[in-house]
Formats: sequence, structure tokens, C-alpha cells
Amino acid sequence: MIKVGIIGGAGYTAGELLRLLVNHPKVQISFVQSTSQAGKAVTSIHHDLVGSTNMEFVAEMPKGADVIFLCMGHGKSREFMEKTLVDSTTKVIDLSHDFRLKDKSIASDHRVFIYGLPELNKNAIKGANHIANPGCFATAIQLALLPAADIIQDDVHIHAITGATGAGQNPTATTHFSWRNNNVSHYKAFEHQHLGEIGESMVQAGKGFDHTINFLPIRGDFARGIFATAYFKSDLTAEEVKSKYQKFYKDAAFTHVVDHKVSLKEVVNTNKCVLNIEKIDGKILITSCIDNLLKGASGQAVQNMNLMFGLPEHTGIQLKSIAF
Ligand SMILES: NC(=O)c1ccc[n+]([C@@H]2O[C@H](COP(=O)([O-])OP(=O)(O)OC[C@H]3O[C@@H](n4cnc5c(N)ncnc54)[C@H](OP(=O)(O)O)[C@@H]3O)[C@@H](O)[C@H]2O)c1
Repeated sequence: MIKVGIIGGAGYTAGELLRLLVNHPKVQISFVQSTSQAGKAVTSIHHDLVGSTNMEFVAEMPKGADVIFLCMGHGKSREFMEKTLVDSTTKVIDLSHDFRLKDKSIASDHRVFIYGLPELNKNAIKGANHIANPGCFATAIQLALLPAADIIQDDVHIHAITGATGAGQNPTATTHFSWRNNNVSHYKAFEHQHLGEIGESMVQAGKGFDHTINFLPIRGDFARGIFATAYFKSDLTAEEVKSKYQKFYKDAAFTHVVDHKVSLKEVVNTNKCVLNIEKIDGKILITSCIDNLLKGASGQAVQNMNLMFGLPEHTGIQLKSIAF
């Protein structure tokens, strides 16, 4: 069994990881660390885990884990890696932004973090000891665009709408029910922080890709999921683009190119990404849907753990969508 520890255990991504790991056949959860909730039952925060775990949050990280997941907010993972003596035999999967960009991927103790998008870096992930798990918008958008990195001739335009869990557990003005319910708004137009990692992966996939990616993030009035559309001009037919995507994703465990018009509920509560490709008025339109907490965070983190430990990629993350 793989001995797993979670750091920053009271938040949304940590809760989602626990929901997966309590049912993972090859995992033993060794500890769940939480600064804010130390000494309390894990179920006092993650109520739905009643009957699944009797663990309590601990204040400090015990030694001996085979892998730890870092589930903390921006900047805290780098701080943790600087201040904590992590065993050299303990692998690390970080869910934050801290180590994702190439010039930020090395920790102060020289540990190198590999960008954990299996559809792009599967072999490197298999041999990695440290993973920077991709962002949620970044995952949906990269899966929509990477196979096209060498055929895009002009600017790319993206609109992506996200559920409120994307912003974490701390209630804010724009996650408050009274404001968010029956409401819609955009934010960080053309300057969302995930554009950096998307750009780096597009260059990796498309050798010399240098087009502008115009990204308009939108807040949706639902709890979870990302529905993203991306479009760009192309001389190729929809069938030619589709066959390129099918080839790119032929070994992908969770990313599927489908013929129907996709909608969010077919992926919510799963680790899947579904992609639909159309050509309309000279433009290729790609629609991409994921669950932000699963393929966009904790599900992808478990997928990376499976690859790092030589397990079949699906282990513990074959999940049922909500569908309706
Ligand atoms: N949410 C997403 O969809 C998503 C997707 C991809 C990546 N990420 C990234 O993953 C990291 C964690 O995101 P998150 O959504 O899990 O953030 P979150 O829900 O805001 O949790 C972040 C931290 O808040 C702390 N916390 C403090 N007081 C708390 C309380 N009363 N209840 C619960 N938690 C409390 C927890 O640490 P302690 O337990 O130590 O107090 C927790 O680790 C971030 O860097 C984020 O950017 C998030």
C-alpha cells in the first residue's frame, strides 16, 4: 500500500482528495495535516466522509509517507518546501501554482517539479518525484488546444465559465450565494494567472507557437465544473482536426474526443475531459468540459500519483458522473 499524507487538509481540494483516497485500493492514508483544524475530526469539516474515516487532523507532518499532497493556497507550498525537512524518499504532488512555471519549478533544496499534465508529460511523470499539478482552467484549456498547437494560424479566443468551488472554501463577495446565484460576471479578462502555464505547454507541444491567447474567465452560478470554448481560424476541415486530436489523445486515459455537443454534467464528479470539435464560418470551435476539483485538481493529482507509482492510471478514479 502507498502511504499518503495530505498537507492543508481542511480545504476543498484536500476534501476531494480524501473522498478519492478513502476508496483507492492501493492507498493507506497516513495523516491529514491542518493548521486551522488540528485536533478536530476530519468529518467535522468534511461532513460527507462520516462512515468513511475516523481520522483527526494533525498539526505537524509525521515522517514516513511515500507521497504527500500539498493542498494549500498560493505561495504556501513554496514556503512549506523551504521550511520543512521532507524525507528524500517522499514524493510530493503540489496542487498550487507555486512550481508550475518552468522558471519556478525548482525548490530551494533543488528538488525539480515536473508539470503534471499526463496528456503532455506522461513519461516524465512516471519517473518524477515531484509534480506541479496543473490549474483547473489551465487543464480545460490546454486539453482543448494542445493538439492544435502547430496548426493555429492566428490569435486564439477562449471563454470559460467556472463553478464557485474553483475559488476555494473561504467565502468572498463573489462566492456569496445571494450574489452568485442567478448571476454571471467575468473577471481577470486577458490576464488570468493560468495563461503562463498554458503558453509554456503550447510552446512545448507546438514548437515555436507564438500566437496570442485571449482568455475571458467567467463566474458561473453553479458549484463545480468548467465549460470552456476555444476558437481559431484554420484551413483544415473539422474532420482533419478531429483526426489530429484523436491521434494526440490515443493513449489518454480520461480525455475523449466526442461527436455530440458536450455539456457540463456529463463530466461533473468524474476525472474526464470531453472535447467536441466543429468548423463554422472558417473557424475551428473546440468545446472542453472538466470537473474543476477532479480533472482540474484532485482527480488529476491521483492520476499523477498512479503514474508515479506504476499503477494503472484509472486506479481509484473511475467515477460516476452526475449526468442529470
Ligand atoms: N478549488 C479548485 O478548483 C482548484 C483547482 C486547481 C488547483 N487549486 C489550487 O489548489 C490549492 C488549494 O485550493 P483549495 O480550493 O483547496 O483552497 P481552499 O479550499 O481555500 O483551502 C486552502 C487552505 O485553506 C486552509 N483553511 C483555513 N481555514 C480553513 C477553514 N476554516 N476551513 C477549511 N480550510 C481552511 C486549509 O489549510 P489548513 O487545513 O492547514 O488550515 C486549506 O489548505 C490552491 O493553491 C488552488 O489554487 C484549486
